[in-house]
Amino acid sequence: MTREEANSRIAELRSILEENARLYYVENSPRMSDYEYDQLMHELEALEADFPEFASPDSPTRKVGSDLETGAVSREFVQRPHRYPMLSLGNTYSISEVEEFSARADKTLNTSFTYCCELKFDGTAICLTYRHGRLVQALTRGDGVVGDDVTENARRIANIPQQLHGDYPEEFEIRGEVLMPYAAFDHLNELRVLDDEQPFANPRNAASGSLKLLNPDEVAQRGLWCTLYHIPAQSIDFESHDQALTAAASWGLPVSTDRRICRNIDEIKAFIDHWDVERKNLPYATDGVVIKINEMAYQRMLGYTAKSPRWAVAYKFKAEQALTPILSIDYQVGRTGAVTPVANLEPVLLSGTIVKRATLVNEDQIRALDIHEGDYVYVEKGGEIIPKITAVELSRRRPGAPVPGFPTVCPDCGTPLVRQEDEAKWFCPNSDGCPMQIKGELLHFTGRKAMDILAGEATVDQLYNLGFVRTPADLYDLTLRQLTSLEGWKEKSAIRFRTSLDKSKSVPFERVLFALGIRYVGETTAKTVARHFGSIDALIAAGEDDLKEVPDVGDVCARSIYEYFRDERHLLEIERLKAHGLQFSLEHQGGALSNALEGKTVVISGTFSISRDDMKALIEKHGGKNSGSISGKTSFLLAGNKPGPEKLKKCEELNVPVLSEEAFMALLPESADTFASEESVEQLSLF
Ligand code: IVH
Repeated sequence: MTREEANSRIAELRSILEENARLYYVENSPRMSDYEYDQLMHELEALEADFPEFASPDSPTRKVGSDLETGAVSREFVQRPHRYPMLSLGNTYSISEVEEFSARADKTLNTSFTYCCELKFDGTAICLTYRHGRLVQALTRGDGVVGDDVTENARRIANIPQQLHGDYPEEFEIRGEVLMPYAAFDHLNELRVLDDEQPFANPRNAASGSLKLLNPDEVAQRGLWCTLYHIPAQSIDFESHDQALTAAASWGLPVSTDRRICRNIDEIKAFIDHWDVERKNLPYATDGVVIKINEMAYQRMLGYTAKSPRWAVAYKFKAEQALTPILSIDYQVGRTGAVTPVANLEPVLLSGTIVKRATLVNEDQIRALDIHEGDYVYVEKGGEIIPKITAVELSRRRPGAPVPGFPTVCPDCGTPLVRQEDEAKWFCPNSDGCPMQIKGELLHFTGRKAMDILAGEATVDQLYNLGFVRTPADLYDLTLRQLTSLEGWKEKSAIRFRTSLDKSKSVPFERVLFALGIRYVGETTAKTVARHFGSIDALIAAGEDDLKEVPDVGDVCARSIYEYFRDERHLLEIERLKAHGLQFSLEHQGGALSNALEGKTVVISGTFSISRDDMKALIEKHGGKNSGSISGKTSFLLAGNKPGPEKLKKCEELNVPVLSEEAFMALLPESADTFASEESVEQLSLF
């Protein structure tokens, strides 16, 4: 290798490693395995040793204890089930809804009771388990049912005790929030900016990102803080919530003293008014007040809805606002062709971060807000990272300032924009020719949650601009020669790219379906739809009514899926992707258990001794196909507990056999064989 080649390879490696460390630590979305990362790091170390003249103090090989250190721990956390589901709280921004909450409680309980009012801490939820006074487990919320085991990281949070004292119960759970105080947040972001790294958008993201770092030493340096506010009633027995928290504090646990027992709505309102102002003096972020019925007996009487307790409500403070002028408006075209106006603002500080851009949502919103060019506007941060414009300060409008004209043609390809009656957005209809849309679709397809192919914006741009790629299937046709001809690409980068394409061929069907980018089919819908139909062929054959049977699929989504598959070009693309070996059915995923159901199309109805998803997976693992609706092609209906009467009727009409769960199980090889290996049982439980 010549000096020149070494120099350019060193630069390439440094940038790949730095970019991946950023994806890994900041976005929690690394694009390469530990192994690949380590290989590249070793290659860089060797080159720097051979060519010491190119060594540099900020090379990733020199950064010890920084974000670039992968640490010895595995990249992924072990997931564990919560003993009691981690629910969320009913939220409101209106005092009248708090009044209604209190009136409902009065009516249901019909006796005197108290409220415990607390701050709503704005961090990331955590669930701690103590056994014999020792911290034994810390789980994140996860999906509420299963969380990430972050015990080792929680041990490094300064105010979480490892050992309790006093009269603690033998074993209990306590829940709360991990926060990053403003001082630690500012310090962390300063360091990140100095290191040319993306700062965190807010303390909440910084707290959750830090809790999920893989190196506990790193977590220890992040200055996280914990405050605990809930002991599940099943965990220990106290007369009131307030007593439970007082007891927890006496065992050494961090419990906020900023809470108050209130007896009526007026006292609740006084608590809210006090903290709406006073919270600005707290060292960490809070976003509201939580009002809980204090007596445990009454909490039990009120119980829970599927999502949240009926004995508590969160009143959220209005988001902070900033006033700043609009400098210009950009019109962005998304992958679906939707045009979104985005305002470029005079940079302004808002809740600890600088805001430069804000979404104007759509044309109606521009009109509703009555935006004129150069207007001073109020910006707020909603749940999204991109802030929203909420109002115009009319007193500062320039006389004669014109109303901005919404473009009539696509800012990218010049095609006249269209707006359907029931749509709030203008669309560029040129879905096959508009570069922004095509690139957006490709980027969606390669995304981490979709096919996870090593192609970010820059690569997609390159491939598109050279005319190499127009549709996802083109990616799989790329030759090594084409790839190595790309500017900045070497054989190694081409091979890495091709390896990621090969790997993507085992990405499960549900993610392939998501990757296709059908409108209204997000990650979750793709999952339910994939499991419901089992294969792309069954999905293509489905009518709108069949689609509507899928939970979460409403009329609009059903129509969108149905129409997607009526487009020849989409069917052709799917055929090409199929030919490349992508997963278009659940059938071939995971190890098959037998072919006892080969050629059988099964419809299931009702509930079983295992979950419905597990039952469908079981059918597939024995070679059968799942279908959502009864037709002449159905081999049998597998009827569990409370099967749908419509389905039973249809079976009778079409003479389709109905099997009980027991009869069905008898069709399968001996159950000992069915669950022959632990591996297959594990695979099943993944569904
Ligand atoms: S009680 C069963 N108390 O806000 C309900 N939650 O938006 C247990 N939160 O899920 C939660 N401060 O992550 C409770 N004082 C507080 C809280 C609090 C913040 C979080 C928590 C909850 C979310 C709901």
